[in-house]
Amino acid sequence: MSALSELYEQIACCQKCDIAKHRTQAVPGEGPEDADIMFIGEAPGWNEDQQGRPFVGQAGKFLDELLNLINLSRRQVYITNVIKTRPPDNRDPLPQEILNCRPWLDLQMEIIRPKMVVTLGRYSMALFFPKKSIGRIHGTAEKREGIIYYAMYHPAAALHQQSLRETIEADMLKIPRLLADAKNIPQPRMEPEVKQLNMFEV
Ligand code: URA
Repeated sequence: MSALSELYEQIACCQKCDIAKHRTQAVPGEGPEDADIMFIGEAPGWNEDQQGRPFVGQAGKFLDELLNLINLSRRQVYITNVIKTRPPDNRDPLPQEILNCRPWLDLQMEIIRPKMVVTLGRYSMALFFPKKSIGRIHGTAEKREGIIYYAMYHPAAALHQQSLRETIEADMLKIPRLLADAKNIPQPRMEPEVKQLNMFEV
């Protein structure tokens, strides 16, 4: 079983938050284990909860279009959310829910080791660009420890506010260049665990 499938099984059993009682199923994320780029949204909605897949509703359709703009398909990218369970009535995720779910996201990043992380909307932006405002930093990138972090508006924002559509498309069009640069960045290698233990044994 792949590391991601194992992780998905654990996420499916997670009961840390009350909202787990009301979900049809958890929505861990999807995409190849060796994806170069990872998109992180906010939380599953009704459609995602029904299907167990991220971004399959209206916002997902627009995300597909955005990916098409840069000649990427869903099969080539990894897509997940800050929290893996649909909040009732699609309310915003609570701070405690975000905290509870954070280890899953960290594990996904450890397994996939993406070269570029694209945050979609305020909630995922807040994890990687704390205290920043989306209006200011959308379309800008920061390189940290071999990963390029890039903030974008949430695709759903364009569905509610047509004027944002062009902004989101323009931000998406910057990704191929950034990704090409990211691929030249040597990834920091984790020392094998055995070696680390040996260091303490001396
Ligand atoms: N669907 C998702 O999976 N995530 C979002 O943030 C919005 C819709």
